[in-house]
Amino acid sequence: MLKDRHLIAPTDFTLEEIDEVLCLADKIIADPQSFSNACRGKVLASLFYEPSTRTKFSFDSAMMRLGGSTLGFSDPNTSSVAKGETVADSARTVAQYSDLIVVRHPKEGTAKLMSQNVNCPVINAGDGGHHHPTQTLTDLLTIRHYKHRLSDLTVGVCGDLKFGRTIHSLVTCLSRYKNLNFRFISPVELSMPSYVTSELKARGVEFEQTSNLEAAMPKLDILYMSRVQRERFISEEEYMRLKDFFVLTAEKMKLAKNDMIVMHPLPRVNEIATEVDNDPRAVYFEQVRLGMYARMALIMKLLGVE
Ligand code: CP
Repeated sequence: MLKDRHLIAPTDFTLEEIDEVLCLADKIIADPQSFSNACRGKVLASLFYEPSTRTKFSFDSAMMRLGGSTLGFSDPNTSSVAKGETVADSARTVAQYSDLIVVRHPKEGTAKLMSQNVNCPVINAGDGGHHHPTQTLTDLLTIRHYKHRLSDLTVGVCGDLKFGRTIHSLVTCLSRYKNLNFRFISPVELSMPSYVTSELKARGVEFEQTSNLEAAMPKLDILYMSRVQRERFISEEEYMRLKDFFVLTAEKMKLAKNDMIVMHPLPRVNEIATEVDNDPRAVYFEQVRLGMYARMALIMKLLGVE
């Protein structure tokens, strides 16, 4: 039962509950019109303390397509945050006006803190370098759409594995499915945090760590690219040194299986050359569209309006 629940970390939902959300997303994709009044009279609040294009607009679009309304900010300085209001007080206030709160914040744990202060569901839309569980729902729906399964996959995860919250969430969640094999492809300085790898080891999930993208490519079913997260670096010099460590090109795509898919949570900076966009295996813009349907399904489940 997902009604009135929060979604703070990808493991907050069981695999059966995730399946419920993905199955509802499939139904919405098949017949969006029949869901156009599902959330009439409901209000979604989106509080974005950090920039966003996809997550903010996809939640807004999802709620509008369900017949509901939205309020919120994408710049906290236009709200009483600028006067020093705490996150907890802002959440308590916004909860008086809305049925569901979506929050993105640079500090890890903020969504959890908000959820402890309100009586409506809170969705974590990204907290610092920690988690981004609705990107994970987007990613799972995309994988299911193209590969028709969430088990028996070899998944390459490439780029900034240290700071990439979409990656931490995806690997944590996807590793719960059967027979997943991960290749973590990064410079040593941006390798996967030990809190993720030690959990994988404890559960016997297979993974390898490498900085050689070309060598890893031929075995992959999925290549999940990510940008180097400039905003999380302390040293600009270090960012400049690492930012173009990997660039996926049409030439490198020749090393991949014919049915490998390339995913990316976006925004892209320079890590995928635009020439790759025309490759039918590049699915990252379709991934954006599927994210809206995943969020429509999630909103419906948490509001119990199915
Ligand atoms: N994927 C993602 O979180 O994109 P935005 O930062 O644009 O929301």
